[in-house]
Amino acid sequence: MVRKIVIYGEPDLRDISEEVKNITGKVQKIFDDMIDTMYSNSGVGLSAIQIGIPLRMLVINSTGEKKDLICMLNPVILSFSGSVVFREGCLSIPGVFEKLKRPERVVVEGILRSGKKVRMEADGIVARAFQHEIDHMDGKLFVDFVPVYRKIFIFPKLYRIKKKQIK
Ligand code: CO
Repeated sequence: MVRKIVIYGEPDLRDISEEVKNITGKVQKIFDDMIDTMYSNSGVGLSAIQIGIPLRMLVINSTGEKKDLICMLNPVILSFSGSVVFREGCLSIPGVFEKLKRPERVVVEGILRSGKKVRMEADGIVARAFQHEIDHMDGKLFVDFVPVYRKIFIFPKLYRIKKKQIK
């Protein structure tokens, strides 16, 4: 089921997500809804908090192909390497895109929806998505990291999005 996405300015988006203790039917249903919501919005990734559920769950699909879908619980980044500038956006911040410098590669550990514990190395858009989605779990958004000299350009857009949320 496609769920409503929590938008910038709504306080829930800043909540800290909690670890998932057991992979229940409810957790599986949340994954299904996250996948439906990501695909229907043509997103590359989504965190559960973006559909209003403060649990450490993410879905990532960089290609749109089924085989590349990653569903992970309680992800932790073990190490970072390199550095790359990449244009980033977020389904919770519609219409705002900014180049952002972040580590190029990450090693991530987490649990798949099957219950299997995994450690994976990622680069490119997948490494970027892991960092972005894990930030969501800690209440952080990519615009928080945009340098001040660029922030002045996106600020009017952010203000407009926020204003719509609080009216
Ligand atoms: Co996002």
